[in-house]
Amino acid sequence: MLSDRSRPVIEATLPVIADHIEDIATRFYAHLFGEHPELLDGTFNRGNQAEKTQQMALAGSVAVFASSLVKVPEQLPEHLLNRIAHKHASLGITPAQYDVVHDNLFWAIVDVLGDAVTPEVAAAWDEVYWLMAYALINQERGLYSARGVRPETVWREWEVAERIQETEDVVTFRMRRTDDRLVKTSLPGQYVTVQVPMPDGVRQPRQYSLTRADDGEHRQFSVKRVKGEGKPDGEVSNFLFDRVQVGERLTMSLPFGDVVLDDSGRPVVFASAGIGVTPMAGMLSHLATAGSHLPITLLHADTDEASFALHRQVLDDIGKLPGASAHVWYERGAESSLPLDVHAGVMNLDDVKLPADAIYYLCGPLPFMQGIRSALIEQDVAPRDIQYEVFGPDLWQADLVTEETPGAGRHAAA
Ligand SMILES: Cc1cc2nc3c(=O)[nH]c(=O)nc-3n(C[C@H](O)[C@H](O)[C@H](O)COP(=O)(O)OP(=O)(O)OC[C@H]3O[C@@H](n4cnc5c(N)ncnc54)[C@H](O)[C@@H]3O)c2cc1C
Ligand code: HEM
Repeated sequence: MLSDRSRPVIEATLPVIADHIEDIATRFYAHLFGEHPELLDGTFNRGNQAEKTQQMALAGSVAVFASSLVKVPEQLPEHLLNRIAHKHASLGITPAQYDVVHDNLFWAIVDVLGDAVTPEVAAAWDEVYWLMAYALINQERGLYSARGVRPETVWREWEVAERIQETEDVVTFRMRRTDDRLVKTSLPGQYVTVQVPMPDGVRQPRQYSLTRADDGEHRQFSVKRVKGEGKPDGEVSNFLFDRVQVGERLTMSLPFGDVVLDDSGRPVVFASAGIGVTPMAGMLSHLATAGSHLPITLLHADTDEASFALHRQVLDDIGKLPGASAHVWYERGAESSLPLDVHAGVMNLDDVKLPADAIYYLCGPLPFMQGIRSALIEQDVAPRDIQYEVFGPDLWQADLVTEETPGAGRHAAA
């Protein structure tokens, strides 16, 4: 909890920090990578840096955390911290690196705000930083120790056992372990970080959701190649798509991720669009393996049947689940050769009857998830019953955004 001495200082300076926080985040990363270029090799995602999404996510998270300390001091923003801690753990972030980030962040704050950073202001923001840092360090320590690893040992080599061309743009990699060590279990919905050596010699990390339940031997993920459309093509997805063949090895982290299947026995509804089907396929696979009898509804939107990745696996799993049904929406019309309830156009929840008291999982482009979440809330679904996975730094923070939170959610329309 914030000290009585710091609270009024934070309250007074929050608006000015929030107004400048994106500049601060940009200066921070430039300085950090100047001082520690090794962090660009295997730890930070340079695509997110180029797009500035990581700068915005860091800035938004600090603003949300500080304003939450002031407004609801008895409660930390748990959802925000969980998401960051899982992402950090999947990248093997260490407690010692928090000192490095601290020093560079405070260098950037002074660089941007100059003399406005009096010793009193610096001390109060230092307290905020360490409250957030220790909350994250503790949570990350818990995540590592639950898996019996250290930050340095989250990584392991895997071999591509099979490559399955799902659609014109999506390929599935089925990875096999390369040694006798036990394969740690994943929770349904989790992702791994894949560290890929790029042609310029730099390793680049990217997260991919696991698309199949554990079998003790394999991990499976599916990658959509990202087309630049005026910007550079996505570097890792295209590299995996074009170059990585059966027999090659990739470094992958243990599975992490906080958007996981609820095991309370309530009905489950999955709503996905495009490549957002991947965590849903993983969760369905776990449910099918467990022989679940729960009411399960899959809602999926895609361009057409040819672009619906993993549809064979998903339909196969739905067929094994006595309580499951699937409904799809194709933008190019309701043509289908599959035993599915097919609609033309974009997903419309009025087309289906949803089970009462369900837990909802959303994954897809941000505007899609924002639209579905709003429609669900209109139907009186409680916000806490809607979980969502963002395929990039979370610039939405839907559970936290309030009108009074400076700096939070400003990029929601991105
Ligand atoms: C939790 C999680 C789960 C995920 N699960 C999956 C999954 O199951 N399947 C899947 O396919 N993806 C998934 N993703 C997304 C994945 O991690 C990658 O972000 C995706 O593959 C794109 O990576 P890339 O290296 O190809 O693109 P990047 O090179 O990172 O590019 C990303 C964007 O930045 C733009 N860009 C890059 N460089 C520049 C530049 N210099 N200037 C301007 N713009 C630039 C590109 O045009 C592109 O639009 C997931 C992400 C997360 C966080
Ligand atoms: C209090 C300190 C910190 C805060 C508030 C913070 C905040 C964040 C946030 C908000 C994200 C994005 C999460 C998401 O939505 O995906 C993130 C990701 C990340 N963080 Fe931190 N972080 C902190 C400390 C650190 C430290 C010490 C390191 C180690 C160098 C680090 C490295 C990373 C990396 C590599 C990512 C992924 C970046 C990407 O994919 O572009 N962070 N952090």
